[in-house]
Amino acid sequence: MYKILEARQLSEKNFLMVVEAKWVVRACQPGQFLIVKTDEEGERIPLTICDYDREAGTVTIVFQTVGASTTKMARLKAGDSFMDVTGPLGRPSNLIDMAPEELRRKKMLFVGGGVGAAPVYPQVKWMHEHGIDVDVIIGAKSKDLLMLEDEMRAAAGNLYIATDDGSCGYHGMVTGLIEKLVKEDGRHYDHCVAIGPVIMMKFVCKLTKELGIPTVVSMNPIMVDGTGMCGACRLIVGGEVKFACVDGPEFDGHKVDFDLAMERQKTYKTEEGRAMLALQEGDTHHGGCGMCGGDR
Ligand code: NAD
Ligand code: FES
Repeated sequence: MYKILEARQLSEKNFLMVVEAKWVVRACQPGQFLIVKTDEEGERIPLTICDYDREAGTVTIVFQTVGASTTKMARLKAGDSFMDVTGPLGRPSNLIDMAPEELRRKKMLFVGGGVGAAPVYPQVKWMHEHGIDVDVIIGAKSKDLLMLEDEMRAAAGNLYIATDDGSCGYHGMVTGLIEKLVKEDGRHYDHCVAIGPVIMMKFVCKLTKELGIPTVVSMNPIMVDGTGMCGACRLIVGGEVKFACVDGPEFDGHKVDFDLAMERQKTYKTEEGRAMLALQEGDTHHGGCGMCGGDR
């Protein structure tokens, strides 16, 4: 069992939990994710790692209530436990493999939209710990939905805020703010990391392609096994089949087929839809043996 040490409601639908997970935290790196299960019957819920403390043996997760499983999860309090926490899963961010001197020469922009600020934070914190100043944009519908503002301010070189309703910072979406920073304020970026709703990542990538800024995104499609077997998280990246759980979750955003990813998410939710996808995708529908029935 994995004990919840802290459980906090951040806004109407967003929750933060600090969970004791000694074995997981020993290996986890920025960019990776976990799968949690509340109880024996519970759904497997993939969650990006927002923070970790190796000494304390804890991971911090941030999630949004989107259905029955996450709503049930949000009812858990400090002192309760998850039945299972599996991870770290997926590949760590490529940036952490680069030499700090090389990273220091790059001008980097991190963009976290809504709950997407949670997976952006460990990367920004890692950069800060290695003496690398990065620009960060966090966006939300309104001021009360902004996430990790204080934490980001402490770790970022420059923090910029965008709210759709103008209640804090730039009035508009993160794409408008990126355009302003580059075109009006003359800021130059060599690399961008954008994490948030798929629609946001699609439009950030459309813009950064025009601006000539290489961009990495983190995809979080429906996941079942998290080990490349079931095919739930199938994506097309650069014309090739990829599975977010083992090939990602980070990908070159200029190569991701976002429209297909959004369409597939909708189709995958019904049994009928999964049957149709299995037919259309043939041998590439599953990542692994194709016999495990992970998507049924
Ligand atoms: P949201 O809908 O409030 O959007 C956050 C920000 O994204 C907005 O303020 C805006 O600046 C930007 N944005 C949204 N639509 C845009 C568009 N069309 N063009 C340009 N910018 C746009 O965010 P939310 O409600 O917190 O997001 C929840 C979604 O994020 C869920 O679908 C969840 O699955 C996803 N999510 C993704 C990841 C990931 O790893 N990619 C992690 C956590 C959550
Ligand atoms: Fe990725 Fe099953 S969750 S293949």
